[in-house]
Formats: sequence, C-alpha cells, structure tokens
Amino acid sequence: MNTLVIGSQWGDEGKGKVIDFLTEDADIVVRSQGGSNAGHTVIAHGKKYVLHLVPSGILWPGKLNVIGNGVVINPTSLVEEMAYLRNLGVDITPQNLLLSDRAHVVLPIHKEIDAAQEEALGDHKIGTTKQGIGPTYADKVRRIGIRMADFIDPAHLEIVLKARIATANEELVRLGHPAADPQETLRAVMEAAGELRPHITDTIPVLNRATKTGKSILFEGAQGAMLDVDFGTYPYVTSSNTSAGGCCTGSGVPPTGIDKIIGVCKAYTTRVGAGPFVSEDADLADYLHGLGREFGATTGRPRRCGWADGVVLRFSAMFNGFDEMAMTNLDGLDACEEIKICTAYKLGDRTLEFPPALISEWEKCTPIYEILPGWMQDTTKCTSWKQLPTNCQAYLKRFGEIIGCPIGSVGVGPDRSQTLSVPH
Ligand code: GDP
Ligand code: IMO
Ligand code: MG
Repeated sequence: MNTLVIGSQWGDEGKGKVIDFLTEDADIVVRSQGGSNAGHTVIAHGKKYVLHLVPSGILWPGKLNVIGNGVVINPTSLVEEMAYLRNLGVDITPQNLLLSDRAHVVLPIHKEIDAAQEEALGDHKIGTTKQGIGPTYADKVRRIGIRMADFIDPAHLEIVLKARIATANEELVRLGHPAADPQETLRAVMEAAGELRPHITDTIPVLNRATKTGKSILFEGAQGAMLDVDFGTYPYVTSSNTSAGGCCTGSGVPPTGIDKIIGVCKAYTTRVGAGPFVSEDADLADYLHGLGREFGATTGRPRRCGWADGVVLRFSAMFNGFDEMAMTNLDGLDACEEIKICTAYKLGDRTLEFPPALISEWEKCTPIYEILPGWMQDTTKCTSWKQLPTNCQAYLKRFGEIIGCPIGSVGVGPDRSQTLSVPH
C-alpha cells in the first residue's frame, strides 16, 4: 500500500505531523521533491523536531527513509541536520537513510544566487526561503547540474565542482554581487560529500522492489499544491512539482504503484512569502499570532493568515486526485464566534469556481464567503469524532462538501496523539 501525503494549500499545513502519525503502519518514508526550503514539525514523546531534508520517518526506529531523485540536496545543510537529529537521540545510518544518486546538489553558491535574484526583483520579490532551491532546479533543467552520483569519486567531484563554482561566480558578479571564495566552497562541499557518500545509492530499484514485495511506502510531500510550479500562483511558487505527479517523477515509483492520495489542509489558510491570497484576513492573523501560532519553521517569519479557501482546495483536490483530506489545526478556531469559508471568487462580474491562470486576475479576485457558527469550546482534549462539538462536526462536513473531498482525519493539537478519525 503506497500512500502520498500532499500539502493542499501554500505549505505548512502540518504534513510532518500527519506523516508521523501514518508512519507507524509504513515501512518506508520517501521525500520526492523540494529541499531544505521545507520545515516539517513533529512533536513526539514531548520532544519537538523540525525536519528540512530528512524524511520524518527517521523518528520511528526500524523504518527506511529515502531522499529521492526529485529532491535538491544541500550537502552541508543535510550533514548539519543529521547532527542535529543525532543530538536529539535519533539513530541515522546508511541502513535507515538512503540518498538517490540522481538527486541534484545545492551548492553554497546557489543560495547566494537565490538571495541576489531576490534582491534584484525589489518590490516584486518572491519571498523565497533563500535556500538556493530555484537556482538548483534551474541548473537541472539547463542540464548543467551536479548530482549525488558525482559525489562517489572524490577526484571527479573536485573537477566538476571547480568548473561549476567558476561559472556560478561569473553569474553572481553579473548580478552585481561579490564572487564566493572558490577554495572555501570546494572545501565545504568535499567535506560534506565524505560524510554523505555511504548513504548514496540507486534508490529506484530499492523502492520498486519494496512495492513488489508488499512493503508500504509513504510519500512525504513538501511545500503545497499552490506553490507547484505548474498549478500554483505562478510566479509566486517554488521550483518543483509539489503535487501528486511530482511524487512519481521524483522517486521512480510509477503512477500504477500509487494506492492512496491524502491532501493535508489547515482548518484555515496560511502562506509565507509574496503572492495572491484571496481569503487573507488581518484580524484572524492577529488572533493566531497572539496565540503564539503561525511562525515559520524554516525562517521564523510570521505567516500570513486567512480563512479556508474553498476555491484553492477544490482545485487542489481535483489535480491531485485526493481520496481524502487530513485537516490539521482545527483547535486554532476554538475561540472564533463565527467561521468563514470562501466558496467562490468574484472577478468583476464573473463568479469563479477555480482560480484564474493570470496572476494579475488572481490578485483582483475577492472572496465570496459562507459563514458558519463557531463552537467556542476547547477541542484539544477530544479523543474521538463523537466528542467534537456539534458545530465543529457541521464545519467539517460542510468543508468537505464545498471542496468536493471528504475529511478523513482532523488534528486538535500538535502532538502525535492529537489526531482523530472522521467518519465519511
Ligand atoms: P508542514 O511543513 O506541513 O509539516 O507544517 P509545519 O510544521 O511547517 O507547520 C505546521 C504547524 O502546525 C507546526 O507548528 C505543527 O506543530 C502544528 N500542528 C500540526 N497539526 C496541528 C494541530 O492539529 N493543532 C495544532 N495546534 N498544531 C498543529
Ligand atoms: P513546507 O514543506 C511554506 C515558499 C516560500 C516562497 C516560495 C518560493 O514546510 O510546507 P523557495 O525557497 O522554495 O524558492 O520559495 O515558496 N515555500 C514554502 N512555504 N512551506 C514550505 O515548505 C515552503 N517552501 C517554500 O516562502 O513563497
Ligand atoms: Mg513547514
């Protein structure tokens, strides 16, 4: 049984928590796109872990974790993250963490190019995580990238690194930035390569053999559907396919090997970085930030907040093929007297059921809301659907109807144990 877990909004939906909850029944957890721009929070046994590149399955003993070919790996960040996890008592070995030999490598220079490009955009900047994600995926499609397979032979690695550092420095200078120190860049990457080498392998047969022998794979999506480079709020997106299709191209597991697709959404919406956000609401943002919620796991930036956007979720459920939604952060709405859901967009005299392609049109859309009564009760201690307040059950049912996809589970707190099944 292979299951995809995909963010359905603009990232930070609580995928880490949902993956962690589902890992108990899985054998392998795979990351198939994105890179250290991701920040997945898991709270287990009273400890908080924030994962960027390492699949969340690493927190469960005996599970295999794979970073697939579609991920862009920053070797120094990965080595740091492995050290951070080991310090928290997590066991990481070449037996439980494999890196695809076809995954592309983020160099320190890619981060600098990312920052320089953002600066050059001025008021129109994307608000990237400055992790070098866009420039590395650009290298991949320009067919000039360095891949993990290049790490295997140190002499070969030194040659390809020196060449790429030289051309990347020319690019930095063109962007009006000082060149990076070639020696230091080379040293840092060569050192990290030494640590990562035992983990690098051809992960495609590993995953396909596992599927054939009845093992269960869980795909840990990163970012969210509206940050997908094809379907999202382009150009305010990331540079990978964050949607269901990206799991296949980013892992080598074919579409015929996928059994179930779960979308993760918050009970409301958040977004970090620039770009349209039709249901954004300043009062809701003040309220959530006042509770100490909704600050970014990777950058610490306060997240933009708004009501649930049914247009985004309906679109997302359609092109991802969600079988069900895992809703998180329901408890965030516990004190709201009334709760809004955006059911459609108004654009001039048109009513839209799905978002427009043109960003200038998306920015002009205004929300059409349905207003539901709040439940004004603490849900964090609820341990079953039956214990949820009636208004809360009604919200979940109506939410599923508006987006055209049922809610399968709901989160009422950040802890591993605070997830309830929803009958549907
Ligand atoms: P991810 O990137 O999708 O894994 O999400 P993040 O970890 O960036 O952000 C989700 C935040 O919501 C984290 O702080 C989680 O601990 C928290 N979280 C997840 N589910 C719940 C929930 O049901 N209730 C509450 N209160 N917090 C949650
Ligand atoms: P997780 O996996 C939220 C956003 C950035 C920016 C845009 C492009 O934790 O949900 P990039 O650095 O990827 O070039 O930035 O995408 N972004 C995320 N927002 N959660 C994430 O990951 C994100 N990864 C990238 O804020 O708007
Ligand atoms: Mg996150």
